Amino acid sequence: MMKTATMAFVTLIAMTATAHVPALESFETKPILADLKDLRALNIPVLAKDERIEVGYAIVTPVMQQRIQERAHQVGKCGGFEDLTLDMHIQGTGFNSILDSLAAIQEKNALYERAPFAALSLEKNGTIEAAMTEVSEDNLRSYVTWLSSFPSRSNRDAEPNRHVVEMKTRLEAMLAEATIPYEISEINHTSTKQRTLKVRLVGSERPNEIVVLGGHLDSINQSWGGGKTAPGADDNASGSANLIEALRIMMTKAQPKRTVEFFWYAGEESGLLGSAEIAKQYKADKKDVVAVLQLDMTLFPGSGELVIGSMTDFTSSWLRDYLKAANETYIHARIVDDKCGYGCSDHASWNRQGYPALMPFEATFSKSNKNIHTTRDVISPESNFKHSAAYTKIALVMGMDLANSTARQPY
Ligand code: BES
Ligand code: ZN
Repeated sequence: MMKTATMAFVTLIAMTATAHVPALESFETKPILADLKDLRALNIPVLAKDERIEVGYAIVTPVMQQRIQERAHQVGKCGGFEDLTLDMHIQGTGFNSILDSLAAIQEKNALYERAPFAALSLEKNGTIEAAMTEVSEDNLRSYVTWLSSFPSRSNRDAEPNRHVVEMKTRLEAMLAEATIPYEISEINHTSTKQRTLKVRLVGSERPNEIVVLGGHLDSINQSWGGGKTAPGADDNASGSANLIEALRIMMTKAQPKRTVEFFWYAGEESGLLGSAEIAKQYKADKKDVVAVLQLDMTLFPGSGELVIGSMTDFTSSWLRDYLKAANETYIHARIVDDKCGYGCSDHASWNRQGYPALMPFEATFSKSNKNIHTTRDVISPESNFKHSAAYTKIALVMGMDLANSTARQPY
């Protein structure tokens, strides 16, 4: 970072903010260094940074370049950013190959943002609409109550799989009623002793196309002197419960054309451990994952009941548009764009491998539950199961609409 920051600036022809705005096609998606404050103000994902010189590294689409330049003009600077395209060739491999793969992911998103698609809309389907009414707040409450009653679900616990084994038994009992062919398995990891739980509903027509619905099952206590109790009701018994409820409703409906895979990941709180291994393996196996939903914290309506934060970093523009369309047709909540600012959950593991991900969150980042990672993350009077139910509905629409379509991120 320091090395590139001190390299000679590539001269950039400053664009006037007024009359002669060049056609976007004359720009390319490129790696740049820019003022950290500008990148943050414009919600552009910062991939690396140096706080001392207030410089951030980002991969920017033509639209983002235009915004940076417009902003630079507004605040009386010229240029607005340093183009790193040449430096990328000068530098060695290692870090660069990571940057290259991130650049490729960003490029896919950029292509979508650049393409003049008609606004996505979902055609109303009676079966899906009926499924929305089957979501039970009582069920969600009982799943969260059960999961948060374990002293801890941490991957560093002496018995890191106690809840995993019990959950598998419960899911097996539930799945006895399933009419869709399924497989249930525990996934071993090398980075942690904890296991990920997976349920696969096999697709009827295109089983190789996969819709992933996931969330982390582990919890953590990070408070000083707080002991080891980690109930993790909101973070993330809530998202885990949403997925159980979506599975319960889906499993007796028509078999989807695409395969739907449910994941309850291990070791997220220790650094996205389970999902990182799984996503990497899927990429190595060239698996065709069409979409990834991440549910992590859905119980605390910090921005208001039925106000959903849609994280714009490490996610797919196409899936965020899909969420908005799904919301119009079936969910009827309010979607507010926001960002974590870092790879805050398992969606980042999939995004890193190039798969389109989506993270609808309980609130905007700043209004989210402040009691997570403490003994206080329990069901409270502020817990809102009606709010949480909306996230099960999102999973249902992805499992019943997207998994029955041929729609995919346009590259
Ligand atoms: N659920 C949180 C992420 C989160 C917290 C999102 C608050 C939005 C608001 C997640 O389980 C978590 O704690 N993630 C870690 C990062 C991970 C890489 C260890 C975090 O945010 O510190
Ligand atoms: Zn979490």
